[in-house]
Amino acid sequence: MLKEIQQQPSIIQNILNKQLPYISLGKYEKNLKLINNIYIIASGSSRNAGNIAKYFLQSILNIQVQVDYASEFAYKDPIINNQTLIIVLSQSGETADTLKALKIAKEKQALTVALTNNKNSTIHKTVDFALEVMAGEEKSIAATKSFTAQLINLYILGLCMSKILDTLTDSDYKSIINQLYQIPQEFDKIIDDFSSYDNFAKKLKKYNHIILLGRGPDTGVADEGALKLKELTYIDANSCPTGEFLHGYLAFLDEKTPVVSILSPDKTVCNLALNNTLLIKDKRNPPLFIIKPESSKSFDDIISQNVINLPDCDKYIYPFYVTVCLQIVAYKMALLLDKDVINPRSLTKIVTHE
Ligand code: F6R
Repeated sequence: MLKEIQQQPSIIQNILNKQLPYISLGKYEKNLKLINNIYIIASGSSRNAGNIAKYFLQSILNIQVQVDYASEFAYKDPIINNQTLIIVLSQSGETADTLKALKIAKEKQALTVALTNNKNSTIHKTVDFALEVMAGEEKSIAATKSFTAQLINLYILGLCMSKILDTLTDSDYKSIINQLYQIPQEFDKIIDDFSSYDNFAKKLKKYNHIILLGRGPDTGVADEGALKLKELTYIDANSCPTGEFLHGYLAFLDEKTPVVSILSPDKTVCNLALNNTLLIKDKRNPPLFIIKPESSKSFDDIISQNVINLPDCDKYIYPFYVTVCLQIVAYKMALLLDKDVINPRSLTKIVTHE
């Protein structure tokens, strides 16, 4: 698993070099121009990638983007038609729930696009347009490199769509591309900084419950971090949007349940999340762990001794960095707890039944 985590900088670089300049929706460009809503359908980690990317896609495309569990979408009689774009995310391309949802989407004549890590898979071959995420074979059951590869491909797909729909200025487009090209080198730094995650791992591994909080795109990051912790350590890790946490959840919190609060590079979002976190600390006094961009003001001693600093960047790029950081924390915790990081109990790489 460590090797797969470490491969991420070169995988992202390769995807940027090979996909970004060449991706084209070909004959489906004219269908795309008619689209008035987008659904991202997926399960597990793939759905978390969708929940992060939806903020970016909505902002650059100016089209409503919704994310749904594949297992729910298939049975809710979704209101979709030939003006709906369905983006199906599946690392394996064979997940039964996702296949079922895709079948419904096709019956309702939606335009279907898939991102998979297997170009020979059923999902890849069934959709109108398929993009290979190019993460390479992933042996560990818990997704790491396939997750970030999926996410960057979603961003690239979004940029390709923005060109077709003419929704971005040239300078905004270029600025986003420049930021995407920063990711591999920042990933390298985050991964090289391996021992800086020891403090989080050593302390967090002692608890039975962990809460992860984030706002905006970081909500999906918190979801993915909690999933990685559950899969790799079997600790009851749960995520919640930071603001939503105050609406009831707060009551169960105690001094034995740490809160990992992800603070955004976006000033408004960061201040809101910080105020929410301070309130949580004030009311229930949980052990507090902060993940934040490097240059935002220092929280050491103010609210927590436990701080991870990540590279400064745009709010839509930041989820990449927090994700890798949480992958490393979860990996380290699993090792400390003597858990099998490759084959967590009861899990399979592909869930082939609904
Ligand atoms: C978790 C993980 C799973 C999968 C899910 C969907 O680390 O990998 O949650 O994301 O089972 O699988 P795919 O993406 O193959 O459809």
